[in-house]
Amino acid sequence: QDKSTTITFNQDEKAPVISKHIYGHFAEHLGRCIYDGFFVGDTSKIANTNGVRNDIVKALKDLKIPNLRWPGGCFADTYHWKDGIGPQKDRPTIVNQWWGGVTEDNSFGTHDFLNLCELLETEPYVSGNVGSGTVQELADWVQYTNFDGVSPMSDLRKQNGRKEPWKVKYWGIGNEAWGCGGNMTAEYYANEYRKYATFIADWTNSGGLMRIASGANSDDYHWTETLMKNIPNHMLGGVALHHYSVIDWNNKGDAVSFTEDMYFKTMSEALEMEELVTKHAAIMDKYDPEKKVDLVVDEWGGWYAVEEGTNPGFLYQQNTMRDAVLAGVTLNIFNNHADRVRMANLAQCVNVLQAVILTDKAKMILTPTYHVMNMYKVHQDAKLIPLKFHSPKYELNGKSLPAVSVSASKDTSGLVHISMVNIDANKANTINLDLGALGVKNVTASIITSDKLQDYNAFDNPNHIVIKKLDNAKIKKGKLNITIPPFSVIMIEGK
Ligand code: AHR
Repeated sequence: QDKSTTITFNQDEKAPVISKHIYGHFAEHLGRCIYDGFFVGDTSKIANTNGVRNDIVKALKDLKIPNLRWPGGCFADTYHWKDGIGPQKDRPTIVNQWWGGVTEDNSFGTHDFLNLCELLETEPYVSGNVGSGTVQELADWVQYTNFDGVSPMSDLRKQNGRKEPWKVKYWGIGNEAWGCGGNMTAEYYANEYRKYATFIADWTNSGGLMRIASGANSDDYHWTETLMKNIPNHMLGGVALHHYSVIDWNNKGDAVSFTEDMYFKTMSEALEMEELVTKHAAIMDKYDPEKKVDLVVDEWGGWYAVEEGTNPGFLYQQNTMRDAVLAGVTLNIFNNHADRVRMANLAQCVNVLQAVILTDKAKMILTPTYHVMNMYKVHQDAKLIPLKFHSPKYELNGKSLPAVSVSASKDTSGLVHISMVNIDANKANTINLDLGALGVKNVTASIITSDKLQDYNAFDNPNHIVIKKLDNAKIKKGKLNITIPPFSVIMIEGK
């Protein structure tokens, strides 16, 4: 066991609020995320509301998801929204060219998605088609969803049964424009963005629009620099960033049967997020010192080989304690960078990549990642508490990573929350929390852990990994001494 490490907290009135939108999710038309995931159709025997599974709606409401990104991903730049409105019999099909080449019947469209967001009480984040679409098509989509007056698109919306506009605030101008979104250069995309952003009108009664530029792939700093330099700040609500924790794109490794070496690699990829947001934010600071433009990490998570026997294009993977730890450290990084990172979307919500929910016919399970998101939801819209400490090391084969990750916040009712992760696969770490400066007198604590890193929630054992109470957390003279077991995530609540 390592010598104990002391964390000091430094309440600061000027510290940023952790935007709840950091806890966002992503639902692409990919594999079994929408069809046979969220959406089973209204004739299904599975309990549903307008075709969307009630158990999924309940689970996501419990999670207080702040926003949901749709319809892609790569799919977004092939999607023509007008094919997904109006009577089902008149809707053409679409072949999902990126994901498995399957033919979709367009039965889940704009109304279905936006009504689902209303049901979830979450903000929709719609990704527009820049790659294979037109400016007119995207401008029409915004008018269709947001305009309250008389116009061709709002009239069409009313004709399709929806009187009030949905007032969608978040609009992505394409996705991965450097890749599946059109293989553009940063310079070319910046010009395209300016054109699209101009014609997507901010309808006076829509409650404001936030335009989000398709962002860099991991450490492509040239991309961010070019967008920030070439797009005037007033046209830019956010700049995106995508980063997946992948061991090796040609050999991603199994989601469940992995070695400690593979785990270590996944963790170093996950922890790279710290450097990525720091460097992308520093570039943004040069062009936007007042930090008006948000850094939007709208795709992140672990990406492994698909589960054997499943369609390789469907990206279905199990979710273990490795994912719980990955989620915990990533969310701590986002919290600690709340001055610039104001939105993020875990990829993806249901049955795809690092999902919070997996389904198998009528069965549904909540993954370890779900429980981390649930544990961390207390940070949503709470004020960040800056902190300092030197992390002990997690060492393997001559390499090392910081073992402990922490973030803290104070909510509007005065409750303090400290989330801590120990990524070390073998060693517990003892942490000394100096809570004196926070005025905290009493604490309660909860933990997500398991016997093995490879443990997961299976359909026949759905509650193997859940949030449990930790009983031994007691403050003595303003200090809390806490031992975090290997690969575990802890939340402390203090008042
Ligand atoms: O989330 C899966 C895919 O990863 C998305 O469609 C794409 O944007 C990214 O490459």
